[in-house]
Amino acid sequence: MKKTILTGLRPTGNLHLGHLFGAGQNYVKLQDEYEFFLEIADVQALTDNFDNPEKVRRNVKEITMDLLAIGVDPNKVHLFIQSRIPEIAELTVFYSNLVTVSRLFRNPTVKSEVAQKKELFGKDGESITYGFLGYPVSQAADITIFGGEVVPVGDDQLPLLEQCREIVRKFNNIYGDILKEPEQYLSNAPRLKGLDGNEKMGKSLGNAIFLVDDYETISKKVMGAVTDPNKIKKDDPANPDICMVYYYHKLVTPEDELKAVCSECKNGSRGCVACKKQLIENINKLLDPIKERRKQYEDNPELVDKILEEGTIFARNRAKENMKKIKEAMMIDYE
Ligand code: TRP
Ligand code: SF4
Repeated sequence: MKKTILTGLRPTGNLHLGHLFGAGQNYVKLQDEYEFFLEIADVQALTDNFDNPEKVRRNVKEITMDLLAIGVDPNKVHLFIQSRIPEIAELTVFYSNLVTVSRLFRNPTVKSEVAQKKELFGKDGESITYGFLGYPVSQAADITIFGGEVVPVGDDQLPLLEQCREIVRKFNNIYGDILKEPEQYLSNAPRLKGLDGNEKMGKSLGNAIFLVDDYETISKKVMGAVTDPNKIKKDDPANPDICMVYYYHKLVTPEDELKAVCSECKNGSRGCVACKKQLIENINKLLDPIKERRKQYEDNPELVDKILEEGTIFARNRAKENMKKIKEAMMIDYE
């Protein structure tokens, strides 16, 4: 029997290269080895976008198409929409008895996200909502309602997984041993830096290349990337290790070509403009087939609906089965 994987994505924007290298390529690998539930976490997205429902709605489809474009295979992966699984909301309520408010406030992921969202939650987080504070509880429900055993996440998500395990242990202690404690699956790809050298590539930072970016947009972004500041003239020798263009070359440029980039940069026989153009070409080579696959879905939106529908029906059935056991254990099995 294959182990069960569950992971989720908040539909708040298109996927970028950071997602592709950090998570997406992993999904494509894992889909052959596990039973894979992939959740479009629209309810979670609403916890900090409740005032922008159009954005969440639009991005459910956008992110689904992005995932299909990078090779997530709907015949292997159950792609589904969180809000269509009411059992998740139900289980969140049950779990909320097993978590203290102070523990949620201390959750490092919640803390750092609240600090980033001053506009929404106040300078010191004094306006944090009940829903946002509680989203780790909802995420624990996401995972366990499907019997998720392995959860591929970025390291920023580890405190959420720890909290999930705590809830599971507490539940099992009180109601009997029926839930599984999930373990993390960390991708070995380090977090991708932005074109500006920022530690994180992100939409809000304006330093990301999206999978859907057209040639012109990619070209503009790469042309603006941060290079070795000591290289003034075209034939100045430079240090590729402090250049974001080289950093991206390492991801997308074939080995032998890459060696040349490095040595020519160091000995001053390479200009930054030509170097950037070569990078643009290689990024396009990577993204062209992804865009091509995406276009098939853009041209046939009913295909995307069908995939989500089928994935959701499958996920819902699994959630119903597990909810039955949970309710029995909690002695609220009236049906
Ligand atoms: N919180 C995750 C993120 O922001 C998304 C997510 C929702 C998730 N539900 C999940 C991740 C369940 C792992 C498991 O990226
Ligand atoms: Fe960076 Fe290339 Fe310029 Fe070297 S030549 S500094 S690697 S852009």
